[in-house]
Amino acid sequence: MAGFIIVGAQWGDEGKGKITDMLCEDFDYVVRFQGGNNAGHTVVFEGRTLKLHLIPSGIMYPDIVPVIGNGCVVDPPVLLSEMDMLEKQNISCERLVISTNTHLIMPWHRDLDGASEHRLGANEIGTTRRGIGPAYQDKASRLGLRMQDLFDRSILREKIASALEEKNDLLTKVYGLAPYTVDEVADEYLAYGERLRSHVTEISPLLNVALDRGDWVLFEGAQGTLLDIDHGTYPFVTSSNPTAGGACVGAGVGPTRMDRVLGIAKAYLTRVGSGPFPTELSDETGARLIEVGGEYGTTTGRQRRAGWYDAPVVKYAVEVNGLTDLAITKLDVLSCCETIKVCVAYEHRGKRYTTVPGHQSAFHHAAPIYEELPGWKVDISGCRRFEDLPAEARDYLGYLEELAGVPVSIIAVGPSREQTILRDWPQR
Ligand code: IMP
Repeated sequence: MAGFIIVGAQWGDEGKGKITDMLCEDFDYVVRFQGGNNAGHTVVFEGRTLKLHLIPSGIMYPDIVPVIGNGCVVDPPVLLSEMDMLEKQNISCERLVISTNTHLIMPWHRDLDGASEHRLGANEIGTTRRGIGPAYQDKASRLGLRMQDLFDRSILREKIASALEEKNDLLTKVYGLAPYTVDEVADEYLAYGERLRSHVTEISPLLNVALDRGDWVLFEGAQGTLLDIDHGTYPFVTSSNPTAGGACVGAGVGPTRMDRVLGIAKAYLTRVGSGPFPTELSDETGARLIEVGGEYGTTTGRQRRAGWYDAPVVKYAVEVNGLTDLAITKLDVLSCCETIKVCVAYEHRGKRYTTVPGHQSAFHHAAPIYEELPGWKVDISGCRRFEDLPAEARDYLGYLEELAGVPVSIIAVGPSREQTILRDWPQR
């Protein structure tokens, strides 16, 4: 068996793309199992910076099969333009596999995402407005369209017609937007189907046979644990399960197939969109972390909110995902800090919490309790071994390890794949 899961241990944007890209050379398959083009992975490859939204990071390597799982939602024109962008860079998408059961983002999903955010006003979730939530809503309502529907004209027309019966009312009567006709949408989507047909197949048998054979399969999560619809800071979450359990559901493989679960956490913390963030810094230190860390969204370009590392959040991610290992990314960014704070617990109404409080109000109003550690104030971006790091940086990592209760097996000290320290990670 060689099933490995990578998940975000915070609110997304932890640097999963870089770590996946770095590790995936050893793998035969890289599988996206949830989310859609709300995700943004920046991969620095042979001196080029590539921004991927839907296609798994493994696409860069000719021996890896990249897979888009049934748990994802795919916007066909967005996927096709990403494939075109890669082909233009001489990166072949021929091996890309897409599950027959992957749900489709339809044009009304995009419209409704924007319209619903607008309606929420000050209470908006801060979604990426890519139609993710409305597409998952229809999946749960059994009104969704799937990849396999693109290959049968009459089924496609029937399903579009049945969806539009409801959606056109919603678009025109509730939101004052333009309706769609079955003909225009069916023709457009049949054309997408033609281009995607050769990539679409059943992925559960494919991956199970691969695991039986002893192939290595990497399940690549998007977003992060605290954005999980079940385990995150609901309602300020995404609409899928970016946690480790989601890998099984979203790819059709059982939990007994997994060997290791790697959680990726930034050495500090960021979040985009609304919702609680106890260690958020609205001061000069926060601004410095944003500037030095280049904290702007890959997908929307929005400035991220920034704050200190929150150990209860990561501890929670260890539990929810059953993490076996942690990767700490962007450690080099903390070189700009004289001293570094780590939130070790929260306080709310006289009660101390060392993990994420179960009640939303407690988390919204949780006051962070900090430990302050000395910074190292030297450039560490050239360090390639753990021993090369200054003592203060090693102590910082040791402290995070102690708080999380799992080893820090990988450390990233810069954006390129070479700027990574592998401490304890299996290699083929
Ligand atoms: P949605 O996924 O577009 O519905 O957005 C829901 C929430 O998840 C918003 O707060 C988004 O900012 C956040 N979100 C979605 N995708 C990402 C991501 O890849 N990184 C970080 N935050 C994300």
